[in-house]
Amino acid sequence: MSRPLLVIDEGTTSTRAILFAPDGSLTASAQRPLTQHYPEPGQVEHDATEIWRNTLEVAQEMVAAAGGAANIAAIGITNQRETVVAWDRSTGEPIGTALVWQDRRTAHRCAELKSAGHEGMIQWRTGLLLDPYFSASKMEWILRNRSEARAAGNRLAFGTIDSWLIWKLTGGIVHATDATNASRTMLMALNGSGWDDELCALFGIDPASLPSIVDSAGQIGTTDPAQFGAPIPICGVAGDQQAATIGQGCLTPGDTKATFGTGAFILTNSGETPPHSANRLLSTILCQIGGERSYALEGSVFVAGSLMQWLRDGVGLIVTAAESEQLARSVADNGGCYMVPALSGLGAPHWRPNARGAISGISFATTRAHIVRAALEAQAHQVHDLMIAFAADGVRWGRLKIDGGMVCNDWLAQDLADMLDLTVERPAFIETTALGAAMLAAVGAGIYSGLDAAAAAMRGAVTTFEPNMGADERERRLMGWRDALGRV
Ligand code: G3P
Repeated sequence: MSRPLLVIDEGTTSTRAILFAPDGSLTASAQRPLTQHYPEPGQVEHDATEIWRNTLEVAQEMVAAAGGAANIAAIGITNQRETVVAWDRSTGEPIGTALVWQDRRTAHRCAELKSAGHEGMIQWRTGLLLDPYFSASKMEWILRNRSEARAAGNRLAFGTIDSWLIWKLTGGIVHATDATNASRTMLMALNGSGWDDELCALFGIDPASLPSIVDSAGQIGTTDPAQFGAPIPICGVAGDQQAATIGQGCLTPGDTKATFGTGAFILTNSGETPPHSANRLLSTILCQIGGERSYALEGSVFVAGSLMQWLRDGVGLIVTAAESEQLARSVADNGGCYMVPALSGLGAPHWRPNARGAISGISFATTRAHIVRAALEAQAHQVHDLMIAFAADGVRWGRLKIDGGMVCNDWLAQDLADMLDLTVERPAFIETTALGAAMLAAVGAGIYSGLDAAAAAMRGAVTTFEPNMGADERERRLMGWRDALGRV
């Protein structure tokens, strides 16, 4: 009963393995950074072999920390979504690099499909919009541009990162993806049980190359005994944003979370009926357990934490991400400076893959602190745009639960409360993505009867931030933001 759960959290910029006790407390963790490859502007690739090597190393460290595989109750996997890996089933080797969710190389193809009038059907069926963000156009690109993928014939396997890890962990026995990840490919209808033949045909994908779609919690596979000395059951799988929603305990329709990781992803639980957005938001599967699905409405912002990384590593304006808080507090306001962080296009609700970022309103009085503050303020501006789009879809947020690496910044948390005019809630343990995967694994392993029981047992204390900004000040900020947005 007290054996720990091993979570593999395969994010965009790092791989982590974390041991959770069944009460949700973290007992050990290990992490490796993941190399980012930018072959051309707008292109982002990962090496799937590096992802697997890092995963195996950190997971083996955690198995050792637990005193052996037999001491681990179950594995939970959570992952960057949409990113596509192609591999050869007979060798288990990747065919070329993985195309990352941020990669915009299929923007032209998506525009072509849009002009041909396919977006309405795609949105209705999958809840997604014709944007290079999703997996289908990336798989099509691989087939069109990599002769080894075509030559592999029925040895070709496609998958998102969860599938790749399940395949490798099970020693090539299981080719599966959970329904949350499948719902991000653009090849599955939200209310369909398998891959959609018409969508597969549109993108030229043979459904036989795709994984089977399984529950997010249950007996998904068992690890190859050679990897950890003894088999460990894989009992939970979900895309990272869905896992964070679960980890935040957003289990009732209307509950909303915002995760500030590489990007910022806001999901509102929509219950058992797929939502249909009229305001350029996405409908997605939140979870599937026992074949029963719940859904969410999502606003995806492509650049959040990666903006801090860029300020630090790209332009050297800060030395550590933590310094941004101190700099933001060191000035009375943004001094008229606004930042539009469209470094890899704009996601929801704008969907402009070719947009590029901008810093506006600078003068000789502008300092490094103003620019850094503008970068932090941009987070609340982006979330504000989404709040308006959600409201236009009839979804009003009662409060916002925040998590992810960026939200340890108290200034940012308060600015979100101020700009949204909402109570913002932050858990003491901000890595809710991993916690959500642990909850799914615990349910899949039968430790808890369902997610409600897992949430009651595993979630910890929260801090709240109350709005404390006048309407005039908020309006002034929003006017500046809209002006800057109009310039990109
Ligand atoms: O859809 C992309 C998302 O899953 C990436 O998440 O945590 O790497 O920002 P993250």
